[in-house]
Amino acid sequence: MAKSVTFPDSEPLKEPLVHGKKNGGKRIDYKAQAQRLRAQRQALPIYSARQAIIQKITDNPTVIIVGETGSGKTTQIPQYLLESGFTVKGQTTIAVTQPRRVAATSIAKRVAEEVGTPLGGRVGYTIRFEDCSSAYTQLRFCTDGLLLREILADPLLRRYSVVVLDEAHERTLRTDILLGMLKDIQRERARVARLNRDAVPETAEPDHRSRGTHMKFDNSGDQGTSGVGDSGTRVVDETHGDVTGLDDLRIVVMSATLDAERFSEYFDNAPILYVAGRQFPVSTYYTTTPQADYLDSAHLAALQIHMETPSDSGDILVFLAGQEDIENVERLLVESAANLPNGAPALLPCPIFAALPQAQQSKVFDPAPEFTRKVILATNIAETSLTIPGIRHVVDSGVHKVRGFDPRVGESLLVEPISKSSARQRTGRAGREAAGFCYRLYTEADYAQLAEDSVPEIKRCQLSMVVLQLKASGVRDVLKFDFMDRPSKKALKHALLELYALDALDDLGELTKLGKWMAEFPLEPTYAKVIYASVSAGCTREAIDIVSLLSVDSLFYVPADKRDESNAAQMAFRSSEGDHLTYLNLLRAFNKVNGDKIWCQEHFVNRRNVKHVLDVRQQLNRLCTRLGIDTELSCGTDLANVLRCFLAGFFHNCALLQPDGTYRSLNGSQIVHIHPASSLFGKKTPAIFFDQLVFTNKLHARAVSAVDAVWIAQAAPKLYGRMLATSQK
Ligand code: CDP
Ligand code: MG
Repeated sequence: MAKSVTFPDSEPLKEPLVHGKKNGGKRIDYKAQAQRLRAQRQALPIYSARQAIIQKITDNPTVIIVGETGSGKTTQIPQYLLESGFTVKGQTTIAVTQPRRVAATSIAKRVAEEVGTPLGGRVGYTIRFEDCSSAYTQLRFCTDGLLLREILADPLLRRYSVVVLDEAHERTLRTDILLGMLKDIQRERARVARLNRDAVPETAEPDHRSRGTHMKFDNSGDQGTSGVGDSGTRVVDETHGDVTGLDDLRIVVMSATLDAERFSEYFDNAPILYVAGRQFPVSTYYTTTPQADYLDSAHLAALQIHMETPSDSGDILVFLAGQEDIENVERLLVESAANLPNGAPALLPCPIFAALPQAQQSKVFDPAPEFTRKVILATNIAETSLTIPGIRHVVDSGVHKVRGFDPRVGESLLVEPISKSSARQRTGRAGREAAGFCYRLYTEADYAQLAEDSVPEIKRCQLSMVVLQLKASGVRDVLKFDFMDRPSKKALKHALLELYALDALDDLGELTKLGKWMAEFPLEPTYAKVIYASVSAGCTREAIDIVSLLSVDSLFYVPADKRDESNAAQMAFRSSEGDHLTYLNLLRAFNKVNGDKIWCQEHFVNRRNVKHVLDVRQQLNRLCTRLGIDTELSCGTDLANVLRCFLAGFFHNCALLQPDGTYRSLNGSQIVHIHPASSLFGKKTPAIFFDQLVFTNKLHARAVSAVDAVWIAQAAPKLYGRMLATSQK
């Protein structure tokens, strides 16, 4: 008998949904496009607050804006600033940061349409490994990580007149660091701007086209008798070059949840603006019993909704944990969609996740063809960052993927239950345009057990990358940095130690030349170190290839019903040394056939992801070339050196085989298991290193390779020197 997910009282919908005309149809020209969207813009709840918002931002250096998801914060507020002269063409830009790449790119696309300009012109975006902006871009959407990196090159962010920090409630690691950096930059810019103003002769009129020049500061940090050292630590004097004409920096912090006081307090009691939203009632259903396999349940729930409600009763949005989940459910749905009973409306699965190419993202926003219902499969990207029109049904798996960190184990990527606050946000997505329905794939009792809020990322993850960036941006003493939520001293010290072990910091905790070099890379310092080591080892080509390959979730498809076939196909690429070289073999084979679609299908290769790998590789090549590295330096078939280079960065992620047949991590004596998807699964080799740990039912090492234990000791003499001495006796 077919399994089914049962929701008590789930009834077919009665009232029809008013779908509304979306931005469909043929694009005629940019102006006409903008004209068409104008009415939509003016119908958004935020429109009535336009004047108040502009005024508040004019009068205050920092403003916190809180508004329900979908009220128009992200797409409208940056435009209001643009329309009100907060930037000067060719001189200053407004930055809008997003925690996620997909949000940055898709919102930029939408806003460019609304403004009536080609993407990359007046409105553009820049994300890691992709830049779609020009010298004329006045509104730039970017990831929070990208803006952080810009501070390295431009410590006062001189080109920006306003920074809008969006989705601040998510409290990602990078948003939190950015909050601290921006606060410091704002204070310093206010100081410089004051000096500039004082130096300007009376007759010189400020340029009134740029609002930034005649802003009045309410609380500009005048109390700062200690000057630059206010936040304790950052050394910016003499590093920011020509500062003539530099203006104050305006900061707008936007959040979708109500807990805005914390942000306000942090920014010297900055004013908070609440924007009313529009929310229709959503009926929520729970499963009667806990679900053993949420992917299966999600697939069945989507099908059930599709079959039991009229197809014009709105699209379905399914929340899953990550790309792998999404691709699994996508495959299941594609199969089911092909086998729907005669006469049933069609079902169109539309995935959306971080690594999805821009071209495929728009499918989510485009209206479905006639007699077709979209099932959008999303990560928590669709929780608050993206508002997808037409959704009336939400299926909530109740899980998300979070980065975790335990100094004894290292960094891990875990699938964990969401918080109540996330569950409520997910539910809200069903009631944006009319009353909706939310199906939670967990029991009501399980819901009651969920935490109220998620813990800010900074409290629970690996800090070495941000500590390196802080150091490279001139923050001498990271322990004294003005964090909104302070990470534990232990975690900070651990990051400092790791950077020391990687030779990024010296004995005094100062950034080394190598550390500075590593900070240039938009990569975890471990990967940057690998690339560094590859130069003297003569295998930069291979190192960059493998680092790029590791930037995606999965390179192969392993459909549940074709596991054996998929495994057999993967054998063609297998290296006895493990996954890193297996991936490299795959990339070489992929390039040989030019990424042929049929070939990918036959070999169960995830073509979408390998193409992303090629993009990343191209960007890394470009960066390395800029740094004077020969990216074509190759070791050919002599690949042992490549693995040794990886150890230069990954000596923390090593495990040794024990007499009882288990692997124990070198730095914490935790038992780790080789992931079933690894080419080393079931094999016994004396020493391994791995790319990451994933906790499912036990601790699994993913992307694993076999190495010589002595190499590990040689790679990290500061840590394992003694072990080296013993093994040489
Ligand atoms: O940021 P916030 O959640 O407040 O709202 P927003 O992202 O600015 O979205 C405002 C409105 O624009 C929503 O009603 C979306 O449905 C619409 N929108 C759209 O139709 N297409 C997009 N690509 C983006 C937004
Ligand atoms: Mg938004």
